[in-house]
Parts: sequence; C-alpha cells; structure tokens
Amino acid sequence: SRSLTGIAALSIADLEDLLSRARRMLAALERGGGRPLTPAPLAGRRIVTLFYENSTRTAQSFHVAAHLLGAAPFDLPVARSSVQKGEGLRDTLRTCEALGFDAVILRHPVTGAAAYAATVLGVPVINAGDGTGEHPTQALLDALAILRHKGRLAGLKVAIVGDVRHSRVARSNALLLARLGAEVWLCGPPGLVPAAPPCPGVTVTTCLDEALDAADVVMALRIQRERLAGVLPDLGEYRRGWGIGPRQLERARPDAILMHPGPVNRGIELDPAVMDDPRCVVEDQVRCGVAARMAVLEWALRPVCPEGAKDEPAGG
Ligand code: CP
Repeated sequence: SRSLTGIAALSIADLEDLLSRARRMLAALERGGGRPLTPAPLAGRRIVTLFYENSTRTAQSFHVAAHLLGAAPFDLPVARSSVQKGEGLRDTLRTCEALGFDAVILRHPVTGAAAYAATVLGVPVINAGDGTGEHPTQALLDALAILRHKGRLAGLKVAIVGDVRHSRVARSNALLLARLGAEVWLCGPPGLVPAAPPCPGVTVTTCLDEALDAADVVMALRIQRERLAGVLPDLGEYRRGWGIGPRQLERARPDAILMHPGPVNRGIELDPAVMDDPRCVVEDQVRCGVAARMAVLEWALRPVCPEGAKDEPAGG
C-alpha cells in the first residue's frame, strides 16, 4: 500500500501509471453505465474521509469511488467528533487506524498535514487538500479531463488564472502538467501570484491577455475567502481584471476548454455566460473526479506487484 501526499512526491512513472489507471476506470464506468466494477477490486476494504475543511466534490467523489470499487466508505464528521473536545490530529489519525480503516482521506487547513499523517499511520493517507500545499487528486482529475477533451498533455498551453498564491489546486496542476510536457502559465493579480514558478516549464505573469493568447486550456481558480483574510481583493475589481467572460475566452484557441475546480463564485471568476458555453467542462471535471479517485484508491490499496509483474487496474 502507498500514500498520496502530493504530486511533488510522485515520479513521472507514477503520474503516468495513475493517469493510465484513471483513463481505464473512466472507460470501465462508461462501458458499465456507471455501475460498480465486477469483480470488486477493493471488496472488504474500508476507507474514511476525515475532512477539517468543507467539501462537496472531493468528499463525495471518494465515497462514490469507494462504492464503485466494492470498498465501504465512511465519514468522520469533524464538527461532531471528539476533535471538538480537543483531540489532536495525531490521536484522531491513530484512532482511525485502530477502528480498522484501510485508508484515510485527509483534508486539513495546515500545509503539510497529509505528509505528517503519513508518518504516524501504517495505512495509506490520501491528501484531499492541505492548506496552500497540494490537492493532488484534483490535479489528476483535471489532467484526465484534459486528456479526454484534448487527447494529450504535452505541448498544450494551459493558463491557470486567479489567486494562484493561495491555491493548492494551481500548485498541484502546475507540477503535474509541466512535468508531463504542458506549457503552464500561472496568472493573477499582483500579490496573488507566486514570486517564482514552482518548477521548470511554468511561467508566472500578471498579464491576463498574455496568459490567454492561444491557450488550449483556460483554468479559472476560486477566490478563497477563507484564506484571504486581510488581503481579499475588491471583488468588482477582480471580476473586471481577472474574471473570464466571452471576451476573454476569445483570446484562447477556438477549441479551447474552460475549467474550474469548483465551487464557482458565479459572476466573479466566471461570467455565467461562459458557464453555459459548450467549451466549459466544469461538470465533466466532476465526472472525471470519480474515475481519478477510483484509480488513486486502487493504486493505494492494492498490493504492489513484484517487479516485472503487471499491476493493472480491474475493469480495464
Ligand atoms: N474542487 C474541490 O476540491 O471541491 P470541494 O471543495 O467541493 O471538494
């Protein structure tokens, strides 16, 4: 078994393996009309979502993914748990393992929480978002959605627009896409972009037009009010300068796709008009999220085959 703490911790071979599994999971779901896989690859296994921050997509898609693989999904509701009596992260994690969960899916506001969890647990930890660190399964599902619509990652121009500085989604996407050969542009208002690119193949700019020109993929980011205390931009100004509407989308390639990790602040990051555009794939990203998380659960929980043996996902 193995943990997924971040894209930075994965090799290129791991990334390609996970994406190949995710593509096969998506194909298996489409062939089977969305029904659980047979035989069930994770029959008898139990996973728990332990989320210290709110979620709709990530938490629910892990539950759906587990169900489709034959595993039993549980939730530890932090707001109604002994965390409220002062139980710390280490003891909560150790309790999850003692309860018999085979994997812990952790979302936490502190950057590095998942990497820490992996040091105290004997079962896999999957990072479902740690502070401003990483959101690796979001990057995998986004790559799967891009592959589905564009057929490749290498050579694509991907513009990631918004509050890049506080975005774990932007960081994981930039690391994954640039390492697999895409040309990544990180773009946002001064003060909300990083001082330096996180890896080779990434350009940082405050010029929206430059980022959008001939882009194959435009990915808008959510304004994270919860992480912007004291530096929250004026939302009207943000929308006028950085929001994506029909006029901005015109700069991208005619066959560009428009993405957003969700939840969308409608009328701020995205003009409602472009959300109804056929190029907008936001809901398809959610569908890809189920397949990508199935791939991650199977990758984490199925024993690694001996060297030379095939470690193929079921249903492929
Ligand atoms: N994209 C994403 O992480 O959404 P949720 O916060 O709804 O899980």
